[in-house]
Amino acid sequence: MGPKKVLVGVTGGIAAYKAADLVSRLVKQGIQVQVIMTENAARFISPLTFEALSGRPVWLDEFSTAGGLSVPHVQLAGEADLFVIVPATANTVAKLAWGMADNLLSAVALVYNKTLLIAPAMNTNMYHHPALQENLKILKSRGVCVIEPDSGRLACGATGPGKLAPVEEIVALVQWHLFQPKKLLGKKVVVTAGGTRENIDPVRYIGNRSSGKMGFALAQAAWLRGAEVVLIAGPVGLTPPSQVAFYPVESAREMREVVLQHYDEAHIVVKAAAVADYRVVDPGTQKIKKREQDLELVLTKNPDILRELGEKKRHQVLVGFAAETEELLDNAQEKLVKKNLDLIVANDVTRQDAGFNVDTNEVTLLFPDGRQELLPLMSKEALAHRIFEVIESLPRFQRFND
Ligand code: PMT
Repeated sequence: MGPKKVLVGVTGGIAAYKAADLVSRLVKQGIQVQVIMTENAARFISPLTFEALSGRPVWLDEFSTAGGLSVPHVQLAGEADLFVIVPATANTVAKLAWGMADNLLSAVALVYNKTLLIAPAMNTNMYHHPALQENLKILKSRGVCVIEPDSGRLACGATGPGKLAPVEEIVALVQWHLFQPKKLLGKKVVVTAGGTRENIDPVRYIGNRSSGKMGFALAQAAWLRGAEVVLIAGPVGLTPPSQVAFYPVESAREMREVVLQHYDEAHIVVKAAAVADYRVVDPGTQKIKKREQDLELVLTKNPDILRELGEKKRHQVLVGFAAETEELLDNAQEKLVKKNLDLIVANDVTRQDAGFNVDTNEVTLLFPDGRQELLPLMSKEALAHRIFEVIESLPRFQRFND
């Protein structure tokens, strides 16, 4: 199977320059991008920009013979796995709704019969106009995915809805539509990520080195595979994927509370968070002052969230991680049994290229029947998909579809 092919249509609005960022991001993901521009789009941004970013000639004119296609509107439409129009002006939205084909872009849209995404961007009054809203309604009823604009200060000086949706969101939706198979459709997946913090006083805490990268990659992978995702994370410096329900927490006890709120409806729970095993018994209510003598902190055990989930387990598929600095497999095996898990991901956190705060990971998967699978070093994104592939193959998961 070759690379996925995406047609990017650019129409004549001030947000046309943001389509360059979109094209660049899609190309970086190995997607083959073909750009079509309207004549007015080419007034806002040069076709050369898109040619350089996509590495392919840009199509502007139906009657051009430069691209070597004899019937461009039919051939361009035929080749693409997905068509996304960014930005979509009010004029183009109207043409799509009413089936007009007076330029190459609208003609391709009329031929195109696969997934069409449009990201409208325009002045707030234009966006609110009943004609535009009717047109969007028509398009939605035909299965077009309308990426709603954001609210904010617009180029024309007005403030309100009409600002192009964030490019990251458009990229994520393109990825979602391209990703197959959607084996987690209709399933609720709860993922925990990052490290918890336990207060010493109002300005200090006990924490750990978790960046949240592994957990966020798992949440994104679950969403791409079709799941409804709940992401519960300790303090991290990452932006959560906009399509997941995000619950930021601080302490282990806060994380426990939110996890339990979602547990009954969850089909799969993946606990990648590094949860503090201990907390300070009596944290200071004011900043603790420096004194001559040493300071002793008394710690007490935190609830073991995963163990509690294992005890309450009914239909759920329960997956844990084990972060170990010694006896990796023995310790992971013990946690698999003690916490009643369906799978544990054993993580050697002494390595430079795996575990905490890096983009890659190398893990061993351990199953309740004694099987072990050592996976090679890979990106956390690739590992997240591998973990869900394994979960989808578990008999306990397959019972959901019986
Ligand atoms: O966030 P990154 O920088 O990307 O790093 C990823 C990671 C190293 C944090 C991740 O891959 C990982 O290994 N997470 C598990 C960390 C951990 O706390 O391991 P543990 O062996 O202490 O705990 C075992 C399991 O029990 C974990 O699933 C943990 O979430 C859970 N647990 C632990 C203690 C506790 N009180 N409650 C729990 O639920």
